[in-house]
Amino acid sequence: MNPVNPVNAPTFAELYGRPAEGEWAAPGRVNLIGEHTDYNLGFVLPIALPQTVRAQAARRDDGLLRIWSAQGRELVELRLADLAPGAVPGWAGYPAGVVWALRDAGHQVGGADIRLDSDVPGGAGLSSSAALECAVAAAYDGLYGLGRSAPELAQLAQRAENAFVGVPCGIMDQMASMCCRPGAALFLDTRDLSARQVPVDLAGAGLALLVLDTRVKHDLGDGAYAALRAGCERAADLLGLPALRSLEPAALADALTGLPEELRPLVRHVVTENARVEAAVAHLDAGDLPALGPVLTAGHASLRDDFRVSCPETDLAVEAAVAAGAHGARMTGGGFGGSVIALVDTDRADHVAAEVTAAFRTAGYAEPRTLTATPAEGARRVR
Ligand code: GLA
Repeated sequence: MNPVNPVNAPTFAELYGRPAEGEWAAPGRVNLIGEHTDYNLGFVLPIALPQTVRAQAARRDDGLLRIWSAQGRELVELRLADLAPGAVPGWAGYPAGVVWALRDAGHQVGGADIRLDSDVPGGAGLSSSAALECAVAAAYDGLYGLGRSAPELAQLAQRAENAFVGVPCGIMDQMASMCCRPGAALFLDTRDLSARQVPVDLAGAGLALLVLDTRVKHDLGDGAYAALRAGCERAADLLGLPALRSLEPAALADALTGLPEELRPLVRHVVTENARVEAAVAHLDAGDLPALGPVLTAGHASLRDDFRVSCPETDLAVEAAVAAGAHGARMTGGGFGGSVIALVDTDRADHVAAEVTAAFRTAGYAEPRTLTATPAEGARRVR
């Protein structure tokens, strides 16, 4: 899904015959470390991307919700009364799900005209869906004067995705899109949503964070994510724990011996990954950004060997980036394709990107798309 040529895209007034009441933006994210830990009630450490979904919107009082998307190239008209889990297929399910979740939670909100546009690459593991949900959640909060906090809106957006769209995602992406701040990573404890903004001064350390989109389609809806989540929950049950988060690293070895063989690597990943988030935060707090590198690479090995959500393309991107001098690299997001992040010296960024591209060419893979990520701002009103 690429941004459409603005020359050809109808404006809000052209679509709806009146001006918008406002415009809201919500970003995509990359997670520095802490993958598949959120639904185990553990730690995550995402940053927001500069790329956003923008929602221009105006209220309607006739029970209709009309949504146009520059990427979907389609105007979808829905009756609020018809909104029900599973009832809206495709991209429109995400914004419609947010409206449904708000109403289901008892908020007195009516319809709206909404115009969506996005420069968050879709299907790249950069949370374009969460950005879409959060832009609409922020727009509705503003339009209807709800005054909900950013974490409350994140939880409503997650509910839209879980219950309305039917993807059993955790809370990381929505919290990142709603709560991240410029220049910082969000150190989030997903058990109680307590969070701390941890400064990440990449430029000051002479570093850049490359995002290499492998262009392998990442789709959380295909059942693999749900199966992994179910495996983790089963392991926690067998161990008599509320969630794998509660398993301390010192107790890991003992715990593993009591579990069925197929669950052991999942548990090992979650426990070691939570410890890696804490190690990463300690390095950031100490101002030692290059020390993050090996933590990232160890995280990738765990996702590849234990959690098994990497793929040949993400593995190759990590290997080639590290071989070309990156301090560290890992896949980011749910896996099964998507993007790899690589922490590089600024003056080696082009070299690393070129080496990864060359390795992909040699392997016969499609050329990766490269972005540079700087920690940006969470959801906000822009007009
Ligand atoms: C997806 C989900 C998140 C999280 C990650 C893996 O992005 O939406 O909730 O589980 O995968 O860390």
